[in-house]
Amino acid sequence: MKITRDAIGRLADAGDPRFKRVMTSLIGHLHAFVEDVDLTEEEWMTAIQFLTDTGKSCTGRRQEFILLSDTLGVSMLVVMLAQARASRGGLKGATEATVQGPFFWEGAPEKPLGADISNGVEGEPALYRGRITDAKGRPIAGALIDVWSVDGGGLYDMQTGEEMRARARFRSAADGAYSFWSIRPKHYPVPTDGPVGRMLRAMGRHAYRPAHVHFMVKAKGHAPLVTHVFDSKSKYLDSDAVFGVRDSLIADFRKHKAGKAPDGRVMAKPYYTVAFDIRLA
Ligand code: BEZ
Ligand code: FE
Repeated sequence: MKITRDAIGRLADAGDPRFKRVMTSLIGHLHAFVEDVDLTEEEWMTAIQFLTDTGKSCTGRRQEFILLSDTLGVSMLVVMLAQARASRGGLKGATEATVQGPFFWEGAPEKPLGADISNGVEGEPALYRGRITDAKGRPIAGALIDVWSVDGGGLYDMQTGEEMRARARFRSAADGAYSFWSIRPKHYPVPTDGPVGRMLRAMGRHAYRPAHVHFMVKAKGHAPLVTHVFDSKSKYLDSDAVFGVRDSLIADFRKHKAGKAPDGRVMAKPYYTVAFDIRLA
């Protein structure tokens, strides 16, 4: 259409070539979409109102636009493209990345390896263990590992109070090993009390994420990694509301009877062990 060519043509004097390329593509796709669905003026106004509500729902603690991006699969697509680009640039062999989500809390306390980070939250105990290595399997000592998850009822500490629970930070040992006790998390819904929730309901979609523990790992000389380990028995593994599941990130929560755990801790009730190694590029 002439109007599409005209709108793109107005970028002729844009100085930044990357900006010009992005905006050219955006305008082209946006016009094609509007034409494709033969968008009515009422629908256009509904979209404007939806985006306005999305902006108004954002606060210092809530980012509804990121949630919109997450639930449309855009955040995960950007994560996948970034990892593929890094891989093409020589940063190959890393554990697959996934979305960070809104519940990372900067400044979690650093705990000794093997510590119990559950801090009293409800849930069945689980021992998480693995090694941080480079892409060739060589151990990385002193990697900074942030972990966080919901409790056994599907809630983050941020949603229940002011105290950090089921989150902490560790340094990997000389052989790259890490371990900590927490709980087995549950599947849970992304926030649905805003415009994104309305959109999901209109789409006939559920809002759930399968049970997972978040990891953010940083080590000198390596690309940082944000990922999760998913519970292989969780509901919603094949329909994550934010499209974050990668098969390579699914692990078994092995159940054990009460007694002596592999790290020597004596458990009064049944517990789980989870093995999850992480490779940094
Ligand atoms: C999370 O896993 O914490 C999350 C990710 C995206 C949106 C909402 C929550
Ligand atoms: Fe999460």
